Amino acid sequence: MTKTRIRIFLFSAAAACVCLAVAADEEAKFLPAGPGKDAVIKYCTECHGSDNVRMKRLDSDEWADTVAQMVDHGAKANQQEQAAIVAYLAQNFGKNSKVLINTAPLTELKSVLDFNITEAKAVLAYRNEHGDFKDWHDLLKVPGLPAAKVEAKKDLLTF
Ligand code: HEC
Repeated sequence: MTKTRIRIFLFSAAAACVCLAVAADEEAKFLPAGPGKDAVIKYCTECHGSDNVRMKRLDSDEWADTVAQMVDHGAKANQQEQAAIVAYLAQNFGKNSKVLINTAPLTELKSVLDFNITEAKAVLAYRNEHGDFKDWHDLLKVPGLPAAKVEAKKDLLTF
């Protein structure tokens, strides 16, 4: 991207913040509890939803890089808050972190569980209609979601 295009992009991202902010607050309450969560909600859902975070599985160094990049974009967290955010993200969205299947957004279903868009949408529709999944067998009832895909990822799911 050229500098101008990046500026235009960031400007439109900032404009989008206004309407995303309310939705982000709603989603953010589904983030796992733990030290650093408040800072993540305060600083990391200002411009985009928490799904940007939930769709990733990064180690501590990679989260530190991402947070530094977001500070460059304009996230206002101070050093101490940044450290708390990195620790929280590495703990809850680290390389081996599980997927909270009852609140997982579309992007997380796609990127972490490798469901395609149709399958991921089917999971959300089923969850909306039937409520929480109780264990991984419940996912076998989702129309159009192949059993093999569910079984392959069952150890990554948490309820
Ligand atoms: C000032 C606005 C702003 C704030 C605040 C902000 N971000 Fe972002 N974020 C962006 C923009 C713009 C993008 C898309 C461009 C990019 O990927 O750099 C983005 C993208 C992302 C992505 C996806 C990057 C990728 O590689 O796909 C992640 C993860 C992310 N942000 C995490 C965070 C975290 C964690 C925080 C809190 C420390 C945060 N963001 C705060 C503006 C912001």
